[in-house]
Amino acid sequence: MRAVFTTNPGLEDVCERELASWGLEVLGSSKGRVEALAGSLEELAWRLERSKSVHKAFVLLYEGPLEGLNLSGIERFVGPHETFAVRAERVGEGPPSPEIARLVGEEVVKRVKDFFGAPPAVDLDYPSVVVRAEWYFDRLRVGVEVGGEESLHRRYYRVEEHVASLKPTIAYAMLELGGALRARRLLDPMCGSGTIAIEAALGFAVPEIICSDINKKYIEKAITNSYVARVRDLIAFAVHDAGRVHELVDWADLVVTNPPFGVRMGSPRKALKLYERFFRSVRRILSGRLVLITPLEEAGELMRSSGLKVVEERSVYHGDLWVKLFVAEA
Ligand SMILES: C[S@@+](CC[C@H](N)C(=O)[O-])C[C@H]1O[C@@H](n2cnc3c(N)ncnc32)[C@H](O)[C@@H]1O
Repeated sequence: MRAVFTTNPGLEDVCERELASWGLEVLGSSKGRVEALAGSLEELAWRLERSKSVHKAFVLLYEGPLEGLNLSGIERFVGPHETFAVRAERVGEGPPSPEIARLVGEEVVKRVKDFFGAPPAVDLDYPSVVVRAEWYFDRLRVGVEVGGEESLHRRYYRVEEHVASLKPTIAYAMLELGGALRARRLLDPMCGSGTIAIEAALGFAVPEIICSDINKKYIEKAITNSYVARVRDLIAFAVHDAGRVHELVDWADLVVTNPPFGVRMGSPRKALKLYERFFRSVRRILSGRLVLITPLEEAGELMRSSGLKVVEERSVYHGDLWVKLFVAEA
């Protein structure tokens, strides 16, 4: 059974590793999609409920040109007593989504009617089965969604939102790239609503986690979220300036953070001044890796001039922006 998993563009390798850790055979990935061979539907649904880097998943039934559309096998998922809806999406240039949805819907009805002698009903609001149709650059992919319609990056614990919150799937990826499984003390000194610290407690069992922010209001939000995630006792919280982390802790082997970008709010110049103070301070306490996400490319140069060694730099799609993810070492 071929399945397609969607994830953050630029972080496909992290998703590939998670799928491989479930025992799936990864077939390849590109542009926010990872393909793998999955075993049973039940196991896939169980895994998805606990997944960390996946947004959505669908079992692939057809891949090819729109004219050759053939949904044989759809009868395993949709019967005459089930309702279904087609959700169509277009990635890149191609036919309009409503047109794709109409053609795929007609094919589902035809196949089910041919097989069972009666057609299924369409329910666009509360369908029992969601058929996903995506035009992906140059071809159509149609499948059946597993794991629900809501993107899995929406975590239950995010009851308190931050205006500039990070997707938990990106937080997970940053932790994975920083080697959180081996970390003994993690610090997020600009933690906002606590996403990175909470993902670290839930997904990596880091023994010591410290979460700080200059704004008390955000620390209160992060504490509430940590209660909902049932990890409050695993995280220490503090109101503190990231430009002076050396006064908060005397060491950390992993620092993962999402500083202000100064792009939509504030100014990039002010943000870079903060980065400079932060890099100089973190350099004094870091014994392992620093992972940071920002659209400000100058951050790499600032890291280097502060004595940090940039070991990886990649582009990641985050909140409608391509941003840089840096991994640096002391
Ligand atoms: C992009 S947000 C972090 C969002 C967080 N990752 C989340 O998911 O909620 C950046 C945070 O940096 C904090 N910040 C700004 N200047 C700071 C400073 N000098 N020291 C510590 N935190 C600071 C802001 O209060 C804000 O919460």
